[in-house]
Amino acid sequence: MCIKFYTFLYIICEKGKRLMSEVIAIEGGYKLNGSVRISGAKNATVALIPAAVLSDGPVEILGVPEISDVEALAILLKELKCEVEVDGERIRIDPTHMEDIPLISDAVNKLRASYYFMGALLGKYKRVKIKMPGGCYLGPRPIDLHFKGFEALGAKISCVEDTYLLEADELIGTSIYLDFASVGATINIMLAAVRAKGKTVIENAAKEPEIIDVANLLTKMGAKIRGVGTDTITIEGVDYLGGTFHEIIPDRIEAGTFLIIAAAAGEKVIVQNVIPQHLEALISKLKEMGIKMEVVGDNIVVYGHDELKSVDIKTQIYPGFATDLQQPLTTLLTQAQGESHVKETIYVERFKHCGELNKMGAHIEVGEAQSTIHGQTPLHGARVEATDLRCGAALVIAGLIAEGKTEITNVYHIDRGYDNIDHKLITLGAHITRYEIED
Ligand code: EPU
Repeated sequence: MCIKFYTFLYIICEKGKRLMSEVIAIEGGYKLNGSVRISGAKNATVALIPAAVLSDGPVEILGVPEISDVEALAILLKELKCEVEVDGERIRIDPTHMEDIPLISDAVNKLRASYYFMGALLGKYKRVKIKMPGGCYLGPRPIDLHFKGFEALGAKISCVEDTYLLEADELIGTSIYLDFASVGATINIMLAAVRAKGKTVIENAAKEPEIIDVANLLTKMGAKIRGVGTDTITIEGVDYLGGTFHEIIPDRIEAGTFLIIAAAAGEKVIVQNVIPQHLEALISKLKEMGIKMEVVGDNIVVYGHDELKSVDIKTQIYPGFATDLQQPLTTLLTQAQGESHVKETIYVERFKHCGELNKMGAHIEVGEAQSTIHGQTPLHGARVEATDLRCGAALVIAGLIAEGKTEITNVYHIDRGYDNIDHKLITLGAHITRYEIED
């Protein structure tokens, strides 16, 4: 698998005596046409891979996106002495001979989702030692609800410097109420509870499609889970989980990003391999803005439009408007007539993209957990920084519609979550290159 892993290593490498880093350069203004196929869901994949270690036999997963988060997880699997084979979109994980080894290498803090090894290894060995997870900075991202769940199941948790130790004599099923319907806490508690003794009930559970995908894999492995997709999930612990085969759902955030790209820079673009029901909130907003779209099976056809209307967005837990699409949509809103408002209820500091878009000519004011976008503003090329994954996507969209050349730095953020975004866009007619610049 040809993952741009070195970009992920902060892409800062020493060449002679100079520090170099990679940029994505986009020559804006070219209209996009054609088809793009959406990859498997990143936020499902990064939980499915740790979930596989709960099995006592080989697990094969299809539809794995080529992103650097997968590469980091494969490193962690190998550290645990799992056999790992990656072949294009397929990963085969054989945990038969794995060992209870602390996860303390740098690969842990390359991504946030390494914390799913907490639930999975606690479930399997009743003990896990692991460094703090990393991931995009979107403001404070506590994991107290994960810990509340593990402790309720019987684990004791301690932290020395940057390493957690979670240990339990045994895990015993119980009732856990989540104060917030957290995606990560729901999945992590589910991973620990499938091998606990007795029944666990997670109340106010999150309902995101990625959680259902993880529960589907665990069920195929032999877990007994009911109620996923509702706010009460019930898990009957089992002693044994076995090998299986699973195909990942399409990435709704990548799909949403391409719908926005098509609306911003497309003439006629077909976004393929989509579950349209996962994108209802975005599709409604795009229609409200005046974008014409047709859903044909698992494809969505988008027609570009010059006169866009402003809209207001409030991010919410699924099935509300996804926080991960707020940043890409903001770029499109700079092209709408009038004032649009974005209210962020999940990550109140997720607005770093606004400053970067302003460098390109946008007029966005950021307030407390909200932004106001004054449109319509023409955008011009500039050197801008992908401060996080979805900020990177917002800037790619801006680069596609801006006049002149846009250079996006910190592209390792984009490579963490978008499978071959340059290649997919080039196929649609975009003018994109990558090269290194002096840092
Ligand atoms: N929260 C707590 N305590 C916790 C857990 C969460 O206070 O123990 C708070 C968070 O601080 C945040 C909110 O609850 O304000 C939502 O957090 P959640 O746990 O639901 O999110 P997550 O599991 O950390 C996943 C995705 C994010 C996506 C969110 C919301 C993964 C690996 N990450 O994060 O994806 O934004 O759900 O849908 O699945 C992205 O893909 O760019 C991304 C950031």
